[in-house]
Amino acid sequence: MLEKLEALYQEALDALGQINASDALTEWERRTIGRKGEVTLLLRQTGQLPPEERAAFGKRANEIKNLLTTAFAEQETLIREQELARSMEEGQIDVTLPGRVTPRGHLHPATQTLREIYAIWAEMGFQVYRSRDVETDEVNFELLNIPQHHPARDMWDTFYTTEPGVILRTHTSPGQIHAMREYGANGTKPIRVILPGMCYRYEQITARSEVQFNQVEGLAIGRNIRMTDLKGTLTEFARRMYGADRRVRFRASHFPFTEPSAEVDVDCILCGGEGCNVCKYTGWLEIGGCGMVHPVVLQNGGYDPTTWSGFAFGIGPERITMLKHGIQDIRYFWGNDLRFLNQF
Ligand code: PHE
Repeated sequence: MLEKLEALYQEALDALGQINASDALTEWERRTIGRKGEVTLLLRQTGQLPPEERAAFGKRANEIKNLLTTAFAEQETLIREQELARSMEEGQIDVTLPGRVTPRGHLHPATQTLREIYAIWAEMGFQVYRSRDVETDEVNFELLNIPQHHPARDMWDTFYTTEPGVILRTHTSPGQIHAMREYGANGTKPIRVILPGMCYRYEQITARSEVQFNQVEGLAIGRNIRMTDLKGTLTEFARRMYGADRRVRFRASHFPFTEPSAEVDVDCILCGGEGCNVCKYTGWLEIGGCGMVHPVVLQNGGYDPTTWSGFAFGIGPERITMLKHGIQDIRYFWGNDLRFLNQF
């Protein structure tokens, strides 16, 4: 039995040396020194030997079991290290590879134009004031001197809501009333604001007209504000916005909330007034409407029209952005097509 034991020992030791994976190692342990392993079983048979042999055999068997256990532990450490090294090799990251580029967003072309406009008016002392998109009929029309059923309402095709008297604003002019009432301190303080924002009109959508678009309203209220202030201020704006030697003209027009009223044109930013297909060979581009604030509107804003006066204007930034970049169709603005938006 002792010979069998020695042979088993030698065999087990050789097998252990060959092992290079942890599953095989576990299997080896189970087969040799585990609870039902060959060495363990032999050791348990010590009692069957003749009494004089037992002591020597038991001693050697224990010794062998200890030797194998130590050898096993050493081999186990070795294999762990090898496996770790291998997995580090396989999972290696090449830190010199270029990373994935995160696409960076940018401002919408309409926003870019609006910001340019804000900056110019800010330099001229106008602060930005926000006014709501959802308006009442009263502020959008009536307080602006456009009574119910007045034919002037035909200028603005309106989106109504299911709430009676609540509409989407058709222009930024109702902001004039809000600004006067909130900033005017009951008609005692001068005002210089611009009111940018989205306007809505119930119109046929075409390449030239959308149901929503931005306007930038301007309002200046003071004690001695005259038509010449309006002309000078808007001319200065046009030059800062579209080029230092722009020419500006004012054409008589009509709005119920201004008197007198005018339409503002700049000479064509593309042909400089020579005439081209952008300006339809007129040499001029319309940038908006303007006028002196109507006495009724001043009164509705809390001002005494005998001592206070003011001017107002409304410009449509999208149209000029289109002309500037040769955009043929206004529907691109809110179509959210990245192929269009990425160009700006
Ligand atoms: N609100 C007018 C429009 O949308 C433009 C305008 C504003 C005209 C201010 C005069 C004064 O057509």
